Amino acid sequence: MDIEALRAETPGTQHRIHLNNAGAGLMPRPVVDAVYSHLELEATIGGYEAANREADALQGVYGSVARLLNADHDEIALMENATMGWAKAFYSLPFNVGDHILTCRSEYGANYVAYLQIAKRYGVKIKVIANDQTGATDPQALQAMIEDIGAERIRLIAITHVPTNGGLVNPVAEIGAVAREFNILYLLDACQSVGQMPLDVKAVGCDILSAAGRKFLRAPRGTGFLYIRRTVLQNLEPAMIDHFSGVWVEGDRYQLRDDARRFEFWENNYATRMGLGVAVDYALDVGLDAISARATMLADRLRAGLKNMAGVGVYDLGRTPCAIVTFSIPDLDACSVVARLAEHTINASASDANSTRLDAEARNLPVLVRLSPHYYNSEDEIERTLEIIGSMIKNKS
Ligand SMILES: Cc1ncc(COP(=O)(O)O)c(C=O)c1O
Repeated sequence: MDIEALRAETPGTQHRIHLNNAGAGLMPRPVVDAVYSHLELEATIGGYEAANREADALQGVYGSVARLLNADHDEIALMENATMGWAKAFYSLPFNVGDHILTCRSEYGANYVAYLQIAKRYGVKIKVIANDQTGATDPQALQAMIEDIGAERIRLIAITHVPTNGGLVNPVAEIGAVAREFNILYLLDACQSVGQMPLDVKAVGCDILSAAGRKFLRAPRGTGFLYIRRTVLQNLEPAMIDHFSGVWVEGDRYQLRDDARRFEFWENNYATRMGLGVAVDYALDVGLDAISARATMLADRLRAGLKNMAGVGVYDLGRTPCAIVTFSIPDLDACSVVARLAEHTINASASDANSTRLDAEARNLPVLVRLSPHYYNSEDEIERTLEIIGSMIKNKS
């Protein structure tokens, strides 16, 4: 990996130490160019005409996302964010009184409030799978839970791969193996893992996967996608349709599209879609194994440096945490730390209980400072960030 070349192609690296890839990654120049040039084309020849001219490239975005996930292009729907994809899939499931949803302790807030709403609406029960000793969702606990409840009463296993509040990487393939054994629908929130590590839906064994473009994939904001396994797709009626997802074939009849795009609507932001396609191809070119190895190495350095500082708490769970690092400094609230880092042009973010309430309450977490490096960050940037945090602690006492 030629880090200097990759950084030269990433305009934001000239201005900031960007350690907020779990918020939104810095777009590389080819992604920005793809968005601009499609907008220019729309302004020059017209929006519909631009989409027609670029029809092959726009269709190619489905193929790119499919390659990224080891899926087929007709199993992909493009979305404006991860939650839209997740919610469109989730709300299409036919829930009945007494159904169970099994989820994880690190589940994302947007997903969990949807469980609560469906529980209120249909009398569905939400059960949380226990963690193992490392803090990861425990596949054996899941197995025991299914045997206890009865597989026929479980409508869905839905978990988060990498939570928003730390470096935990859940054992998604082991959980997939259990889901497959009992033939239970498996929905994976891969928002924070996509673009950060290799992701293969066949190896994971999930039926549905949602992800954002803007984070570790480095695509524009307002992009995301949904994967739905072909065999599952045929039995899913979207909760909302329009005349793109369900074609109006006769006065009193519509026919759903055969492909995953039955979860899309007619109108879309084609400029950002072009950016998403380029971002996915860019990540595939750099290589997801190499991306993961370097991002993890930089995060490990941050973690090690933070752990060496007196009083600093580091909160990442799991045996081998990924590129999200969360910590706290005693007597210095997370928002002040983020603000002080910003004064030194370091981008960080804060993570509070609203995003991961089960985990926050179980571990009694304070609001956390979150640093999320990516492969294009330099070792110098990591050292500089540690220095600034070290001086913050020193100046406090
Ligand atoms: C784990 C996880 N899931 C889902 C989301 C939601 O993604 P989006 O904002 O693209 O809807 C996030 C966003 O931070 C997240 O961290």
